Amino acid sequence: MSSSATGAAKPTVTVTLDGSNRNTSLPVLSGSIGPDVVDIRKLYGDLGVFTFDPGYGATASCESKITYIDGDAGVLLYRGYPIEQLAEQSDFIEVSYLLMYGELPSPAQLEAFRKGVTYHTMVHEQLRRFFDGFRRDAHPMAVICGVVGALAAFYHDNLDINDPHQREIAAYRLIAKIPTIAAWAYKYSIGQPFMYPRNDLSYAENFLYMLNAVPAEPWTPNPILSRAMDRILVLHADHEQNASTSTVRLAGSTGANPFACVAAGIAALWGPAHGGANEAVLKMLGEIGSPENIPHFISEVKDKNSHTKLMGFGHRVYKNFDPRAKIMKETCHEVLAELGIKDEPLLDMAMEMERIALSDDYFIQRKLYPNVDFYSGIILKAMGIPTSMFTVLFAVARTVGWVSQWKEMIEDPSQRIGRPRQLYTGATQRDYVSLGRRA
Ligand code: SDX
Repeated sequence: MSSSATGAAKPTVTVTLDGSNRNTSLPVLSGSIGPDVVDIRKLYGDLGVFTFDPGYGATASCESKITYIDGDAGVLLYRGYPIEQLAEQSDFIEVSYLLMYGELPSPAQLEAFRKGVTYHTMVHEQLRRFFDGFRRDAHPMAVICGVVGALAAFYHDNLDINDPHQREIAAYRLIAKIPTIAAWAYKYSIGQPFMYPRNDLSYAENFLYMLNAVPAEPWTPNPILSRAMDRILVLHADHEQNASTSTVRLAGSTGANPFACVAAGIAALWGPAHGGANEAVLKMLGEIGSPENIPHFISEVKDKNSHTKLMGFGHRVYKNFDPRAKIMKETCHEVLAELGIKDEPLLDMAMEMERIALSDDYFIQRKLYPNVDFYSGIILKAMGIPTSMFTVLFAVARTVGWVSQWKEMIEDPSQRIGRPRQLYTGATQRDYVSLGRRA
């Protein structure tokens, strides 16, 4: 234990290299809640060794004040506020303000933020042309990845990310324009005209409007669907240092254009192990076909050689129920009831799947519970959103989390370019052999 300036002993971890008389004392840092961390920054300098943690399952990559997850207790806090309370009492714009600035807004601050986002929802008219380069059947995640990346071409020359005001404008632009770009990717895929954003609608209403309205007739928001969409956006807004957020942080640590960083985040989110799982859940339920086929599917999942995963189940951090999945399940029942959908076979299948899995030792031992993606697809399908758009919706919601984490990183005085090391097991040094001398 080393003593700190206040005299209180500051915890340390001593690492001794077996077979040598070398050791080092590493400080243990404490956060406000959650596990302490061992600061290993001087380990290599002192002992000449790296730590090894493929997938970063035991590595804190940064200090953050935005989102806290307790995977064992199934707790998720945005700036200290439980997700259950925010999903019930707040809305996506207010949660976006909270994630960006750290406190719940005053009425005046909320109105100014809401207005600021509303008046940035339109995109440069030339951006429309980027869509024409895609085939109509291109996956909309590929489309939004390309178009969001293209925003970097519209906002690059005069973008100084070291200027707080310009960082804020970039954040507003990304939060505001991502629903427009996402909805246009859908409209492009079905050959319908793009719908321009409306300033008289809320964020969720506007997104549903741009997805569903056509110029030929008026469109009025359905309050139930708008509320459900808003809640889904709140649940997906941020989630600590997940794969896509870590991608945005790593790209941003080089000083890259924030629009390009968010495009990188979209690319990472697309994977079926991450944000692509909601689409994969629907595909999985469709392939299973009916509840009587569930036991056979579960036996395939248990067979390692099948490489079959129970999509929508499991999580790197949650070893208990994902609190978002619980809220999503409740919302699912509400939306289906309010839409007058009495028996949704997919929901019945999902609930039977959950019942069987949660009573099966294979899943219990591995602490595999439904995650945020298990029920979201069923709601979205009931709302008429095509499966290919599920992960796009996840990206719409997570953009505020990405820009909040990016902003926090840029403003962190200890921030430096991310550059992990490796355990090298390749060929040791050898001399080049000319072609004529090779076998
Ligand atoms: C998201 O990080 C985040 O915060 C992500 C996210 C966010 O908001 O950003 O929460 C969003 O990505 C949710 C997760 C969506 N993905 C899926 O639903 C795809 C299915 N799930 C798995 O691919 C998996 O659970 C992961 C990728 C989510 C987690 O992978 P890990 O960390 O490698 O899983 P693990 O270490 O907890 O696995 C322990 C065991 C392993 O078996 P053994 O080698 O011990 O025998 O459980 C097995 C895994 O093979 N396992 C599964 C499984 N998930 C883990 N077996 C069957 N089905 C699964 N879904």
